[in-house]
Amino acid sequence: MKMEKLSEKTTQSEWLIASNNQHKIDEIKLFFLQRGIKIKTLSLKEAGIQMDVDESENTFEGNAWLKADALKGLWNGNILADDSGLCVDALNGAPGVHSARYAGEPTSHANNVSKLLDEMKSVLDRKAFFVTVLAGYYNGMPFEVKGHVFGKIARMPMGWDGFGYDPVFIPNKCSRTFAELSHDEKNLLSHRAAALEQLVLKIKGCA
Ligand code: IMP
Repeated sequence: MKMEKLSEKTTQSEWLIASNNQHKIDEIKLFFLQRGIKIKTLSLKEAGIQMDVDESENTFEGNAWLKADALKGLWNGNILADDSGLCVDALNGAPGVHSARYAGEPTSHANNVSKLLDEMKSVLDRKAFFVTVLAGYYNGMPFEVKGHVFGKIARMPMGWDGFGYDPVFIPNKCSRTFAELSHDEKNLLSHRAAALEQLVLKIKGCA
């Protein structure tokens, strides 16, 4: 399918983003805006849907499908679910699928970051990556794509923008954390953008 066709088609259909995380929703919306792709995206709030899925699977893929499938009976249009997290080499992949609740409930980005820095106090190997799995339905057909960004964990939080572990993640070939980058800059490098690129290729029939 050509890009023009994708734009024509998707302006008529809507994509529901299966997330209550406003940061993720904003990043997904910005991705399409930045690339001039005319896809109409709706958050759960905008669609008037209340949903809080228990992320009980032990893989990003499993949790992304839990979110996508929770919407299947409720929404006829396209569905896009995002499950993502931070994996640290020296912590054997933790916080991983437990990224959102790493420091326990109620969830707190600040507490998660503190716990991570604490665990890594004397760790020299600071390699880490973010991963996003996007799963859902496009014209009723299931799809699943994945994106990564590799980097390292900073020694202290730096920057105020973004969310989650952004203040302590420094992507490779960059001297600043995600939280020190502008939204536009983060959205060119991020795991979420990499997964969305895969999704666009898939929709266009190239992958
Ligand atoms: P979930 O996908 O809702 O299970 O949670 C993802 C969690 O991973 C978030 O609450 C953050 O802690 C972390 N995370 C995912 N993506 C990002 C990101 O782009 N920046 C910072 N933290 C992220």
